[in-house]
Amino acid sequence: MEAKPGDKVRIHFTNNLEQPTNIHYHGLHIPITGNADNVFLKIEPGKKLTYEFPIPDNHPSGIFWYHPHLHGLVAEQLFGGLAGLFIVRGELDEIPEIKAAKEEFVVLQDFSIDDRGRRSSSAHMSLMMGREGNVIAVNGRVNPSINLPEGGLLRLRILNASPSRFYRLALEDHSFYQIATDGNSLSEPIEVNELLLTPGQRADVLVKGDKQSGQYRLLNLPYDRGSMGMMGGGMMGGRGMMGRNDRDEPIALATLHYESAVESLPLPTKLASISALSEPQIVRSFELNHGMSPAVGMAFLINGEPYSGDRLHTQVKLNTVEDWELANTGVMDHPFHIHNNAFQVISRNGTPESLLAWRDTVLVKKGETVRIRIPFRDFAGKTVYHCHVLDHEDLGMMGNLMIE
Ligand code: C2O
Ligand code: CU
Ligand code: CU
Repeated sequence: MEAKPGDKVRIHFTNNLEQPTNIHYHGLHIPITGNADNVFLKIEPGKKLTYEFPIPDNHPSGIFWYHPHLHGLVAEQLFGGLAGLFIVRGELDEIPEIKAAKEEFVVLQDFSIDDRGRRSSSAHMSLMMGREGNVIAVNGRVNPSINLPEGGLLRLRILNASPSRFYRLALEDHSFYQIATDGNSLSEPIEVNELLLTPGQRADVLVKGDKQSGQYRLLNLPYDRGSMGMMGGGMMGGRGMMGRNDRDEPIALATLHYESAVESLPLPTKLASISALSEPQIVRSFELNHGMSPAVGMAFLINGEPYSGDRLHTQVKLNTVEDWELANTGVMDHPFHIHNNAFQVISRNGTPESLLAWRDTVLVKKGETVRIRIPFRDFAGKTVYHCHVLDHEDLGMMGNLMIE
């Protein structure tokens, strides 16, 4: 889907699943009181709903997306493939160098495919770990080719739409120039050799053409996001086998081809201006971990508690700025996501973050404490924050957030 700031969006939705579901528009800064950012809605099988919402005039341009969000079924439905891009076109797309670049979308998903080539719902990994499939697809295809354009600048708009898998992306013998994080432009392109995308995160990157024709691969490098090695008798061993990418070898996700030898177009120098936020009025702490909960048994917990639909876990005031200190005291990484309002990362383990950028999902590694600064702007209402390893979210790592 694609929209512009100022547009009104109307989506006619029919649930043809055998389970209840709903849709969440991840990252969009839109009214919370309508049905569009309402993850508490339950659309029963066979039922219809019309989603209607405005894209505010000052909405950032960038990569957003949509996926089901009914607590308890999110990971399963996403693992079935239910996800799509929601692109907002605006200022960033009007920068001449970016406008001239060839645009390609890269939606990363993984699936479980059985011996007979059919999709199976059983994951190759425990749900506590977060399910991962044995096949990785880009836009639904295994290792597709992407042609580099004549003139050389390729714009890859990448989304991690997997329920649990992290992607550590690299281009063979080339670097990327990142121009945007989640839904927002950076102030200038930054050269990166690797890009770690957790579930839910997006990256907008430019790739320069070489002077020679040829091909090179977009790779997924191994990454260890931790494991439950200390649980269940430590049967997974110390290497955290279950937390790694399928193989220790890099996996080709897509192959880029040059048709002809070309001189590369220049990169843009300036993108957007990003200002630092004012000091927070309130500082809160959130501890992320798993453990036993009297009510539900083994669960994922925020501040020692699993999600409960009836509780209002956090109440904030509209038009205030808050710092949230996210402490991961567990043995697995947790990408933390807040609905509706983007935030800036202030520090990691006390070290100030040098890159000024807007995000809606931030990786909090095992043992790490990340401080983020969130302006609660424009829209009051009830929404959520949660871990975007969606099995963790389904198993309790979510909280209700009231903005009023
Ligand atoms: Cu992709 Cu609650 O979000
Ligand atoms: Cu979201
Ligand atoms: Cu998690």
